[in-house]
Amino acid sequence: MEVPARFVEKEPLFRDFLERRKPIGHLNLKSEGSGNLIQLLIGQGCITYDGTRDAYQMDELEYVLHALIFQWYGIYYGHPFWARLSNCQVSIQELFGWALRTYHLSRSAGVTAARGAVYAPTSQIRAAFLASAIEEYSHCDTFFFPRHPVFGLEDSWIKQLVPLASSTAFDNQMSIIAEDDWLAHTCIAYFQEYTVAFRENAFALYDRLEKAYGLDGFFEGWKQHIGYDLEQSHAD
Ligand SMILES: [Fe+2]
Repeated sequence: MEVPARFVEKEPLFRDFLERRKPIGHLNLKSEGSGNLIQLLIGQGCITYDGTRDAYQMDELEYVLHALIFQWYGIYYGHPFWARLSNCQVSIQELFGWALRTYHLSRSAGVTAARGAVYAPTSQIRAAFLASAIEEYSHCDTFFFPRHPVFGLEDSWIKQLVPLASSTAFDNQMSIIAEDDWLAHTCIAYFQEYTVAFRENAFALYDRLEKAYGLDGFFEGWKQHIGYDLEQSHAD
Protein backbone atom coordinates (compact mmCIF):
# COMPACT_ATOMS: atom_id res chain seq x y z
CA MET A 1 0.00 0.00 0.00
CA GLU A 2 1.31 3.48 -0.86
CA VAL A 3 0.41 6.66 0.98
CA PRO A 4 0.98 10.09 -0.70
CA ALA A 5 3.96 11.92 0.90
CA ARG A 6 1.91 15.12 1.06
CA PHE A 7 -0.60 13.39 3.31
CA VAL A 8 2.07 11.99 5.61
CA GLU A 9 3.89 15.35 5.90
CA LYS A 10 0.67 16.97 7.14
CA GLU A 11 0.37 14.45 9.99
CA PRO A 12 3.65 14.35 11.94
CA LEU A 13 2.28 11.88 14.50
CA PHE A 14 1.23 9.53 11.76
CA ARG A 15 4.64 9.89 10.11
CA ASP A 16 6.32 9.02 13.43
CA PHE A 17 4.06 5.98 13.67
CA LEU A 18 4.96 4.83 10.14
CA GLU A 19 8.63 5.29 10.96
CA ARG A 20 8.16 3.25 14.17
CA ARG A 21 8.96 6.13 16.49
CA LYS A 22 5.48 6.20 18.06
CA PRO A 23 3.17 3.29 19.04
CA ILE A 24 -0.37 3.09 17.76
CA GLY A 25 -1.67 4.14 21.19
CA HIS A 26 -0.37 7.67 20.56
CA LEU A 27 -2.53 8.20 17.47
CA ASN A 28 -6.02 9.53 17.30
CA LEU A 29 -7.93 6.69 15.67
CA LYS A 30 -10.96 8.92 15.22
CA SER A 31 -9.14 11.72 13.35
CA GLU A 32 -10.58 12.40 9.91
CA GLY A 33 -7.31 12.08 8.04
CA SER A 34 -5.10 9.29 9.31
CA GLY A 35 -7.87 7.72 11.46
CA ASN A 36 -9.61 6.07 8.52
CA LEU A 37 -6.34 4.85 7.09
CA ILE A 38 -5.33 3.33 10.43
CA GLN A 39 -8.73 1.63 10.72
CA LEU A 40 -8.13 0.18 7.26
CA LEU A 41 -4.68 -1.09 8.26
CA ILE A 42 -6.19 -2.63 11.42
CA GLY A 43 -8.95 -4.24 9.33
CA GLN A 44 -6.30 -5.81 7.10
CA GLY A 45 -4.35 -7.17 10.05
CA CYS A 46 -1.32 -4.91 9.31
CA ILE A 47 -1.13 -3.39 12.77
CA THR A 48 -0.52 -5.04 16.07
CA TYR A 49 -1.05 -3.65 19.55
CA ASP A 50 1.57 -2.02 21.73
CA GLY A 51 3.63 -4.92 23.03
CA THR A 52 4.82 -3.18 26.18
CA ARG A 53 1.58 -3.26 28.17
CA ASP A 54 1.09 -5.51 31.20
CA ALA A 55 -2.46 -6.61 30.38
CA TYR A 56 -4.62 -7.04 27.29
CA GLN A 57 -8.35 -7.43 26.70
CA MET A 58 -9.60 -10.69 25.17
CA ASP A 59 -10.62 -8.98 21.91
CA GLU A 60 -7.15 -7.44 21.62
CA LEU A 61 -5.56 -10.83 22.14
CA GLU A 62 -7.84 -12.37 19.56
CA TYR A 63 -6.94 -9.62 17.10
CA VAL A 64 -3.19 -10.11 17.59
CA LEU A 65 -3.52 -13.89 17.37
CA HIS A 66 -5.56 -13.76 14.18
CA ALA A 67 -3.11 -11.35 12.54
CA LEU A 68 -0.32 -13.75 13.50
CA ILE A 69 -1.93 -17.00 12.38
CA PHE A 70 -3.12 -15.58 9.06
CA GLN A 71 0.46 -14.58 8.36
CA TRP A 72 1.50 -18.14 9.22
CA TYR A 73 -1.21 -19.59 6.95
CA GLY A 74 0.18 -17.45 4.10
CA ILE A 75 3.62 -19.00 4.60
CA TYR A 76 2.35 -22.54 5.27
CA TYR A 77 -0.08 -22.81 2.38
CA GLY A 78 2.34 -20.95 0.08
CA HIS A 79 4.41 -24.17 -0.10
CA PRO A 80 4.25 -25.59 -3.68
CA PHE A 81 2.95 -28.92 -2.33
CA TRP A 82 -0.49 -27.43 -1.64
CA ALA A 83 -1.03 -26.24 -5.21
CA ARG A 84 -0.04 -29.66 -6.55
CA LEU A 85 -2.26 -31.42 -4.01
CA SER A 86 -5.15 -29.12 -4.76
CA ASN A 87 -4.87 -29.94 -8.49
CA CYS A 88 -4.54 -33.68 -7.77
CA GLN A 89 -1.03 -33.65 -9.28
CA VAL A 90 0.82 -35.44 -6.47
CA SER A 91 1.71 -39.12 -6.86
CA ILE A 92 -0.23 -41.70 -4.85
CA GLN A 93 2.94 -42.22 -2.76
CA GLU A 94 3.11 -38.50 -1.96
CA LEU A 95 -0.57 -38.52 -1.08
CA PHE A 96 -0.02 -41.43 1.30
CA GLY A 97 3.02 -39.61 2.76
CA TRP A 98 0.85 -36.58 3.48
CA ALA A 99 -1.87 -38.73 5.10
CA LEU A 100 0.76 -40.58 7.15
CA ARG A 101 2.24 -37.28 8.28
CA THR A 102 -1.22 -36.12 9.43
CA TYR A 103 -1.65 -39.42 11.30
CA HIS A 104 1.70 -39.02 13.05
CA LEU A 105 1.04 -35.38 13.96
CA SER A 106 -2.29 -36.40 15.46
CA ARG A 107 -0.62 -39.30 17.30
CA SER A 108 1.72 -36.89 19.07
CA ALA A 109 -0.95 -34.30 20.00
CA GLY A 110 -2.03 -36.12 23.17
CA VAL A 111 1.55 -36.85 24.20
CA THR A 112 2.54 -33.21 23.77
CA ALA A 113 -0.50 -31.95 25.68
CA ALA A 114 0.50 -34.32 28.51
CA ARG A 115 3.79 -32.41 28.80
CA GLY A 116 1.79 -29.20 29.25
CA ALA A 117 -0.37 -30.96 31.87
CA VAL A 118 2.79 -31.56 33.93
CA TYR A 119 4.80 -28.40 33.32
CA ALA A 120 2.29 -25.51 32.91
CA PRO A 121 2.56 -22.88 35.66
CA THR A 122 -1.00 -22.87 37.11
CA SER A 123 -3.42 -25.65 38.03
CA GLN A 124 -6.07 -24.20 35.74
CA ILE A 125 -3.79 -24.34 32.68
CA ARG A 126 -2.54 -27.80 33.66
CA ALA A 127 -6.16 -29.01 33.86
CA ALA A 128 -6.88 -27.63 30.36
CA PHE A 129 -3.83 -29.44 28.99
CA LEU A 130 -4.84 -32.65 30.76
CA ALA A 131 -8.34 -32.52 29.24
CA SER A 132 -6.77 -31.96 25.82
CA ALA A 133 -4.33 -34.85 26.32
CA ILE A 134 -7.13 -37.28 27.20
CA GLU A 135 -9.33 -36.04 24.38
CA GLU A 136 -6.63 -36.10 21.67
CA TYR A 137 -5.11 -39.40 22.65
CA SER A 138 -7.24 -41.65 20.44
CA HIS A 139 -7.92 -39.21 17.60
CA CYS A 140 -5.09 -40.56 15.45
CA ASP A 141 -6.64 -44.02 15.30
CA THR A 142 -10.27 -42.91 15.38
CA PHE A 143 -10.08 -40.26 12.66
CA PHE A 144 -6.74 -40.29 10.84
CA PHE A 145 -5.56 -43.88 10.45
CA PRO A 146 -4.38 -43.93 6.79
CA ARG A 147 -6.04 -47.17 5.75
CA HIS A 148 -7.38 -47.87 2.23
CA PRO A 149 -7.12 -50.85 -0.17
CA VAL A 150 -5.58 -48.53 -2.82
CA PHE A 151 -2.46 -48.16 -0.65
CA GLY A 152 -2.06 -51.94 -0.32
CA LEU A 153 -0.79 -51.81 3.27
CA GLU A 154 -1.95 -53.80 6.28
CA ASP A 155 -2.83 -51.95 9.49
CA SER A 156 0.07 -53.51 11.38
CA TRP A 157 2.54 -52.27 8.74
CA ILE A 158 1.12 -48.75 8.84
CA LYS A 159 1.38 -48.72 12.64
CA GLN A 160 5.06 -49.51 12.41
CA LEU A 161 5.96 -46.91 9.78
CA VAL A 162 8.51 -44.46 11.12
CA PRO A 163 7.47 -40.78 11.19
CA LEU A 164 9.12 -38.51 8.63
CA ALA A 165 12.07 -36.48 9.89
CA SER A 166 9.99 -33.29 9.53
CA SER A 167 7.16 -34.77 11.67
CA THR A 168 9.66 -35.80 14.36
CA ALA A 169 11.24 -32.33 14.32
CA PHE A 170 7.82 -30.69 14.68
CA ASP A 171 6.76 -33.09 17.47
CA ASN A 172 9.96 -32.47 19.42
CA GLN A 173 9.62 -28.74 19.02
CA MET A 174 5.99 -28.84 20.22
CA SER A 175 6.92 -30.97 23.24
CA ILE A 176 9.68 -28.58 24.25
CA ILE A 177 7.41 -25.57 23.81
CA ALA A 178 4.69 -27.30 25.88
CA GLU A 179 7.22 -27.58 28.72
CA ASP A 180 8.72 -24.10 28.41
CA ASP A 181 6.02 -21.79 27.13
CA TRP A 182 2.39 -22.86 27.47
CA LEU A 183 1.09 -19.70 25.78
CA ALA A 184 3.25 -20.18 22.67
CA HIS A 185 2.10 -23.82 22.55
CA THR A 186 -1.53 -22.72 22.79
CA CYS A 187 -1.03 -20.22 19.92
CA ILE A 188 0.38 -22.96 17.68
CA ALA A 189 -2.42 -25.34 18.68
CA TYR A 190 -4.89 -22.58 17.82
CA PHE A 191 -3.21 -22.22 14.42
CA GLN A 192 -3.90 -25.91 13.83
CA GLU A 193 -7.43 -25.92 15.22
CA TYR A 194 -8.52 -22.75 13.44
CA THR A 195 -8.25 -24.51 10.08
CA VAL A 196 -11.88 -25.52 10.73
CA ALA A 197 -12.60 -22.06 9.31
CA PHE A 198 -11.59 -23.49 5.91
CA ARG A 199 -13.80 -26.56 6.27
CA GLU A 200 -15.78 -26.01 3.07
CA ASN A 201 -12.61 -25.81 0.98
CA ALA A 202 -11.20 -28.77 2.89
CA PHE A 203 -14.30 -30.90 2.22
CA ALA A 204 -14.18 -29.99 -1.48
CA LEU A 205 -10.48 -30.91 -1.61
CA TYR A 206 -11.08 -34.28 0.10
CA ASP A 207 -13.90 -35.07 -2.35
CA ARG A 208 -11.67 -34.18 -5.33
CA LEU A 209 -8.84 -36.32 -4.02
CA GLU A 210 -11.08 -39.32 -3.31
CA LYS A 211 -12.44 -39.16 -6.84
CA ALA A 212 -9.11 -38.58 -8.60
CA TYR A 213 -7.25 -41.35 -6.75
CA GLY A 214 -10.08 -43.87 -6.29
CA LEU A 215 -9.98 -43.42 -2.51
CA ASP A 216 -13.70 -43.76 -1.76
CA GLY A 217 -14.48 -42.81 1.84
CA PHE A 218 -10.83 -42.33 2.80
CA PHE A 219 -11.32 -38.83 4.18
CA GLU A 220 -14.50 -39.65 6.11
CA GLY A 221 -12.59 -39.60 9.43
CA TRP A 222 -10.95 -36.28 8.56
CA LYS A 223 -14.39 -34.80 7.88
CA GLN A 224 -15.75 -36.17 11.15
CA HIS A 225 -12.80 -34.68 12.98
CA ILE A 226 -13.54 -31.23 11.56
CA GLY A 227 -17.14 -31.66 12.77
CA TYR A 228 -15.81 -32.70 16.18
CA ASP A 229 -13.55 -29.61 16.40
CA LEU A 230 -16.53 -27.42 15.53
CA GLU A 231 -18.74 -29.10 18.14
CA GLN A 232 -16.08 -28.65 20.80
CA SER A 233 -15.55 -25.00 19.73
CA HIS A 234 -11.81 -25.66 19.33
CA ALA A 235 -11.37 -22.55 17.21
CA ASP A 236 -13.11 -20.18 19.66
FE1 LIG B 1 -8.03 -33.98 17.43
